[in-house]
Amino acid sequence: MLWHTYRVLSRKNAPAQRPHGPSLSRLGRHLRYDTLTTMQLQPTQSEILLTEDPRRLPSFADVFHGERPVEIEIGCGKGKFLIARALEEIDINFLGIDVVWKWMKFGVARSKKRELSNIRFIKADARELIRFGLASESVSVFHIYFPDPWPKRRHRKRRLITGEFMALLHSRLVPNGLIELATDYEDYYLQMKRAVVQSGVNWSRVDESANHRLFDGMRKTNYELKYESAGRTLHYVELEKQNGESP
Ligand SMILES: C[S@@+](CC[C@H](N)C(=O)[O-])C[C@H]1O[C@@H](n2cnc3c(N)ncnc32)[C@H](O)[C@@H]1O
Repeated sequence: MLWHTYRVLSRKNAPAQRPHGPSLSRLGRHLRYDTLTTMQLQPTQSEILLTEDPRRLPSFADVFHGERPVEIEIGCGKGKFLIARALEEIDINFLGIDVVWKWMKFGVARSKKRELSNIRFIKADARELIRFGLASESVSVFHIYFPDPWPKRRHRKRRLITGEFMALLHSRLVPNGLIELATDYEDYYLQMKRAVVQSGVNWSRVDESANHRLFDGMRKTNYELKYESAGRTLHYVELEKQNGESP
């Protein structure tokens, strides 16, 4: 399978310019890797899925065992929520994406320890990965919980949730697919609602809630638990794609 031959590139041995696409640095500094070795990924190690170029992400059929619905968590951190779901929902495949390896490695280690076969992690900038690496209508749920709020005005342009990003996610969702959003930051919540409108997409359903998780109320993320116990107001938004709508 393709992922057997995936290589973990070091910055030292990464090519400066790729023959069929932009350089690694143009794709974003977050696509650099923390290891200095070249590694063959074995099936038992396949929770770690690393690629030097999001355009070459293999198909889900090559990555996972079996054709099943795929749920993706963007900014999964240590993967607490995704691992809990993977343990319970054995007929669903899960992919965790985070730009920072420091926390995600704990999720990888836990998944290996529990010998989960339906979860993978990838270290990448989700914007690049989703634009260049994911096929249209391939994902059943995108989970985005407590994305970095970038509270300073001059940093707000760094926020993940924009109308453009919502439209991109919509194109990758299967009909009736879902986007799940959560934030404790009021201003970001308002931006999320604007982004839904700015996406220019006719969502079949947009639900909102305060302090009540709309999707899988049994499981929570690390930040969710932390903010909940601090007594903060948690805003949740759930979007559903229309049935049969083309991207
Ligand atoms: C505040 S933490 C929330 C972590 C987790 N979702 C939770 O609720 O516990 C935000 C996470 O998003 C990740 N992140 C930020 N920008 C990202 C991007 N462009 N692509 C992937 N992950 C990103 C960060 O590295 C961080 O782990």
